[in-house]
Amino acid sequence: MQKTLVIFKPSAMERGCVGQILTRFQQKGLIISGLKMMRLDEAILREHYSHLVEKPFFPILLKTMMASPVIVACLAGVDVINVVRMMTGATNGRDAQPGTIRGDFAMSNQENIIHASSSAEDADAEIRRFFKPEEIFEWPPAYMDFIYSTLEIDE
Ligand code: TYD
Repeated sequence: MQKTLVIFKPSAMERGCVGQILTRFQQKGLIISGLKMMRLDEAILREHYSHLVEKPFFPILLKTMMASPVIVACLAGVDVINVVRMMTGATNGRDAQPGTIRGDFAMSNQENIIHASSSAEDADAEIRRFFKPEEIFEWPPAYMDFIYSTLEIDE
């Protein structure tokens, strides 16, 4: 089953909304395959945000991503990368649709609560960046038949 990576950024940690957001993912029917707390350092952030290192806001982005520990989650589900991106909403919280996580919790382009992988290639690299293989669990929960039809799971 497809997997994606979510980071609960310092904005979520400081504002105490990790539980509410994790609940949204569980409510939707996504499976938690990995979950842990860690501090991000400059090296991992330079790799993770390599597409942004030349941007003028990069030093501020680095600082805020290291402002507190973060929680990283690996979520599993059918088409989970796209589903989580839709649930996350636009980068800038002020542009994000109400009902999305950023639309409901953020007022900022930078302090935007969570990161979510944007493609299959990124998800694969990001899960390997933040988790050791033994920290990812394959466990189809007992309730799976009530989340998907058997045809969808076999896809
Ligand atoms: P990006 O990968 O473009 O967006 P997304 O998180 O929606 O995939 O940007 C990564 C992070 O960089 C973004 O979540 C917050 C920060 N950022 C800024 O601080 N200012 C900006 O103008 C942009 C585009 C991003």
